[in-house]
Amino acid sequence: MEFKHVPIMLDACIEGLNIKGNGVYFDGTLGGGGHSGEILGRLTSGKLIATDLDDEAIAAAKEKLSFYGDKFLPVHGNFKNFKEIIRGFGFNGLDGILLDLGVSSYQLDNRSRGFSYMGNGKLDMRMDGSQDFSAYDVINGYGENELRNVISAYGEERFAGKIAAAIVKKRAEGEIRTTGELAEIIEEAIPKKFRGEGHPAKRTFQAVRIEVNGELRGLKECIYDMIRSLNPGGRIAIITFHSLEDRVVKQCFKDLETDCVCDKRLPVCVCGKKKEIEVLTKKPITASARELQNNPRAKSAKLRIAEKLQITRKIKI
Ligand SMILES: C[S@@+](CC[C@H](N)C(=O)[O-])C[C@H]1O[C@@H](n2cnc3c(N)ncnc32)[C@H](O)[C@@H]1O
Repeated sequence: MEFKHVPIMLDACIEGLNIKGNGVYFDGTLGGGGHSGEILGRLTSGKLIATDLDDEAIAAAKEKLSFYGDKFLPVHGNFKNFKEIIRGFGFNGLDGILLDLGVSSYQLDNRSRGFSYMGNGKLDMRMDGSQDFSAYDVINGYGENELRNVISAYGEERFAGKIAAAIVKKRAEGEIRTTGELAEIIEEAIPKKFRGEGHPAKRTFQAVRIEVNGELRGLKECIYDMIRSLNPGGRIAIITFHSLEDRVVKQCFKDLETDCVCDKRLPVCVCGKKKEIEVLTKKPITASARELQNNPRAKSAKLRIAEKLQITRKIKI
């Protein structure tokens, strides 16, 4: 199957990153290489390091972007390990970072990857094929409470309890092996009058995917570290697809944009907190009507961009 993914809010991301030809850039979510290709096209002596957990994405992007030679440094790995990865290439700071979180269209559309509630694939959902733990283990191995907690926390699903109970009941008859079986169990567990907009299994599939790939684990700490690894004037652009991720990004940006947090009644600052970034998107950027027409998957996407201030702390990486 061909690796297809339409990059989301491409122009806004590239403009927002304000790319310098000789800069060092990091794309944590390479996917189909759409954003990376545009970054690379603007580099002269600069470099782009790009990670993806999915070795199929890495292989496809290596081929697609081979024209850029050693400007392009792809790594099969987790962007949360960016410090070691960057250091491994001998860099100690970044001029720009892009995160386009979540899954690619290729992962969603490829039934054998088991991400989609449409069609019928084996329960998998691993971004990284070398990982053992998959959706099969969550659905067949987690206790009812654990399942409910995952579906509720990561899917914000009000019927998490009913869905967890239905999964446990069904698997007493035999293992649940496919996305089709799971989607059917979820649909039946949600009362008919609440099966409103969108597919009833959407939220639960999102929750299981987040659990399988540990998507929210350490994300906040990673974003803080990424921002602190930016050179002065460097920029970070992050695209999120659901409120759980967006909340993390929004809060990190807000915290790092805030100066002294001392009680206003104190005559002098004792906390020492200094503003580290300027948030360039007071409200998140969303896809235009035109983009949505061509790519409905951009519907829930939100883009936030921030710039590292000139005199701020920078961690050693
Ligand atoms: C939305 S797609 C990125 C698409 C890409 N911007 C493009 O233009 O083609 C997200 C990609 O990030 C990868 N990914 C998600 N979380 C990751 C992580 N923690 N570390 C590395 N890659 C990750 C997924 O495997 C997927 O290929």
